[in-house]
Amino acid sequence: MTRPVDQNPTAPAPASHTSSEPGAGVVPRFAAPPPSRARRRYAVAGTGHRAGMYVAALTGEHADVGALVAWLDPNPARIDYYDAQVGEELGLGGPAGLPRHTPDGLERMVAEQRVDVVIVTSLDRTHAELVDRALRAGADVVVEKPLTIDADGCRRITKAVADTGRDVVMTFNYRYAPRNSTLRQVIESGTIGEVTSVHFEWALDTVHGADYFRRWHRDKANSGGLLIHKASHHFDLINWWLGDTPAKVYASGALRFYGDENAAARGMGERPERGTGAHGDPFSLDLRADPRLDALYLQAERHDGYRRDQDPFAPGVTIEDNLAVLVDYRRGARLSYSLNAHSPWEGYRVTVNGTAGRAELEVVERGFIELDANGNAVLDPSTTPLGAHDPLRPEGERLVVQRHWQRPEEVTIPAGIGGHGGGDAILLKDVFRRDLRLGPDLLARAADYRDGLRAVAVGIAANQSLRTGLPVTVGELGLGADL
Ligand SMILES: NC(=O)c1ccc[n+]([C@@H]2O[C@H](COP(=O)([O-])OP(=O)(O)OC[C@H]3O[C@@H](n4cnc5c(N)ncnc54)[C@H](O)[C@@H]3O)[C@@H](O)[C@H]2O)c1
Repeated sequence: MTRPVDQNPTAPAPASHTSSEPGAGVVPRFAAPPPSRARRRYAVAGTGHRAGMYVAALTGEHADVGALVAWLDPNPARIDYYDAQVGEELGLGGPAGLPRHTPDGLERMVAEQRVDVVIVTSLDRTHAELVDRALRAGADVVVEKPLTIDADGCRRITKAVADTGRDVVMTFNYRYAPRNSTLRQVIESGTIGEVTSVHFEWALDTVHGADYFRRWHRDKANSGGLLIHKASHHFDLINWWLGDTPAKVYASGALRFYGDENAAARGMGERPERGTGAHGDPFSLDLRADPRLDALYLQAERHDGYRRDQDPFAPGVTIEDNLAVLVDYRRGARLSYSLNAHSPWEGYRVTVNGTAGRAELEVVERGFIELDANGNAVLDPSTTPLGAHDPLRPEGERLVVQRHWQRPEEVTIPAGIGGHGGGDAILLKDVFRRDLRLGPDLLARAADYRDGLRAVAVGIAANQSLRTGLPVTVGELGLGADL
């Protein structure tokens, strides 16, 4: 099984991403583009890991409706990587040679390369500025989650949208995973009645979870912490499932596992300075083990000094790894949410309580982490004889609905296509062919900046609650728009 480029190499690769025959209703239908129509011109801002998914889409399945016309990134080695890939994909016999810009040249890029849409796949703290400047320069925007990391960023984006009237597409790929959209259908159908509360638990394992403590994400100033960077996916799902808006948030959290102080307190002793070259350490990531990691990060270090394989127990971690959040929704539902980033297995459990019953979604993305003979974590267990499966915690997904006075029933989850639980490939169709859609999406999966605001609003309020120890009213955050 080859891991698609949209998967983080440390993330579990669930079986559903290989499905080629999606379930009915999962993939929307689109008209063919009119032959005379010009392709939209796209620039990619932030040529790291996530950019790969969009680059592959624009040189592959969606090349008939969009063209890549420019790169923007402070690191020339990462631009080189994608420029070479595009050249190869297009059969040019060498790099594509697309115009390249550093972040200060965004306006010039939009003007000179007549960019229609800027795809923002840079690190989180830069999103607000890039979205604002791209809109004001005359382009529409596709922006990866999280929309931004703080209230200032929300205000900046909201004002830019109001001033320019331009379009901002939020790419919430988790909505497109069939298990998540099927739960929305169950709730919308009224089977469990009016939703009164949701319990949502997300467990990140010691390979993928540790990755947030190796990279720029470990500094809250870059990522807003996991409440923004990771949980904005989850808060968006809950907002979307309920069709409701968060009103009040209380949070508690701490760094209890990663970081130098926890390592010292547990007597972990001397740690390798970085993962590359380390032996027998399951927390280390060797960038040389994956050609893409090597090219995008190890070979790019000489330009900006950024190390993607920092020790998760090295000093400088300012984000939490254990988080608990309570949210009151406007229409009265309550949410209890928990995130743990050092679990032995990875997946999530959601319980939705309603006045007529209960829906429960359980997902195991990776049942356990295998270690190789040297004691290093195996990133792709499909390559080992044991494989990824444990009979007690098999990878899989199960949606069970039980109405009052009735037996539980399992709801079939249709197959999806693409990474992230079958969501990425469907999302891309919506991103690049939205205007060609044949009929509305009954699942209402396409998201815009207001959905992005509602999702980060929970994390921003939760971060404030962590600082003050008090509950936070979302309406008082002044995010620049009525959510
Ligand atoms: N939806 C998902 O499932 C998903 C998955 C992975 C990443 N993401 C999001 O994609 C974004 C990028 O993540 P990544 O994993 O690719 O990180 P990355 O570190 O691999 O790439 C980030 C890139 O941004 C560049 N950059 C830094 N400052 C910049 C600036 N001012 N302007 C333009 N580029 C700048 C860096 O040089 C780097 O090339 C993040 O916002 C992340 O949340 C989303």
